[in-house]
Amino acid sequence: MDAVASILANHHAEPLPAAFVAIGGLVALKFALGLLGTFYRYQLRPSKKLTKFGKYAVVTGATDGIGKAYALALAKRGMSVVLISRTESKLQAVAEEIDSKNFKGVEKTKYIVCDYSNFDEKTRARVAKELGGLDIGVLVNNVGQSYRYPRYFHELAVEEIGSLIEMNINSTVWMTDMVLKGMVERKRGTIVNLSSGSADYTMPLLAEYAAAKMFVESFSVSLDAEYKSKGIRVQCQIPFYVATKLAKLRKSFTVPTAEAYVWMAMRWVGHGGVVQPYWIHALQGWVMKSVPHSILESGVMSMHAGIRKRGLKKDAKLAAEKKD
Ligand SMILES: NC(=O)c1ccc[n+]([C@@H]2O[C@H](COP(=O)([O-])OP(=O)(O)OC[C@H]3O[C@@H](n4cnc5c(N)ncnc54)[C@H](OP(=O)(O)O)[C@@H]3O)[C@@H](O)[C@H]2O)c1
Repeated sequence: MDAVASILANHHAEPLPAAFVAIGGLVALKFALGLLGTFYRYQLRPSKKLTKFGKYAVVTGATDGIGKAYALALAKRGMSVVLISRTESKLQAVAEEIDSKNFKGVEKTKYIVCDYSNFDEKTRARVAKELGGLDIGVLVNNVGQSYRYPRYFHELAVEEIGSLIEMNINSTVWMTDMVLKGMVERKRGTIVNLSSGSADYTMPLLAEYAAAKMFVESFSVSLDAEYKSKGIRVQCQIPFYVATKLAKLRKSFTVPTAEAYVWMAMRWVGHGGVVQPYWIHALQGWVMKSVPHSILESGVMSMHAGIRKRGLKKDAKLAAEKKD
């Protein structure tokens, strides 16, 4: 006991080395500045005036979920909107909904019918022709597709493998190509690309979707670096779950409605980089990144395996009903 007391007494007598105190102070300062910066970006930073980027906003996958919420929010901010999606009746309904609100300075909503699951040369030429000559200031590359339910990669049908590439990667690349040249000429514009939280983690049984969204993320950050000096910002958003048809989830504390997600996301439009606009998602991401990788990987695997089992059962039931 005496020996321990004497060690403690000596330890207290020693002043902490100055370098140790300085490093500790710098780490604390960095943390505090980081927190302040985060608070500023989520709560205080004023939104950009989007009409300064151009007159029109183009939104893909604009008849439901996040895309529809974006179309309405952009029109509310004075942007005339071009909706692009697959189902004409839904496009007409969303266009009418926007026009019925008579937002100030907003032209009659335009729409283009396009099936992005096969975005071939002919379809691209048609869409480009319809967009030609418009002063497009904002492009929201929102359309995307996940698996119907998690599965091993070898279980995906050939069409599903192709469609995941078309919907998530090719739609983003070709739509960007269509609007960017005009933005460069006008020296202004902003592009928002929808990736997914799944891009940032190991995603067993959703491998192709997660990888496709990682492509979107990488494409966005490099484009942003290429074009920011030309007055164009490219942003990648990485939502976690949002209560839409794609997610097949109901609204909860961590799962916002599309409108609630977009309400927060609009504050970020016009800035570049990779962002997680919904602060609860950002907090979730921070917690997930603190969990050891092996634990997270096996947790995701067992969660997805459970959903896969239910999905296979449902498919088998449907197949049996078809036979009868
Ligand atoms: N919801 C989430 O939890 C979540 C999480 C992370 C990332 N994301 C990403 O956010 C984006 C939007 O997802 P969401 O949940 O809002 O989706 P959603 O509610 O399912 O809406 C999909 C929209 O895309 C259109 N669409 C579907 N297939 C199409 C096709 N082949 N060609 C053209 N348009 C098509 C739909 O039009 P129709 O009405 O005609 O079908 C609809 O307007 C996606 O890129 C998704 O990967 C979503």
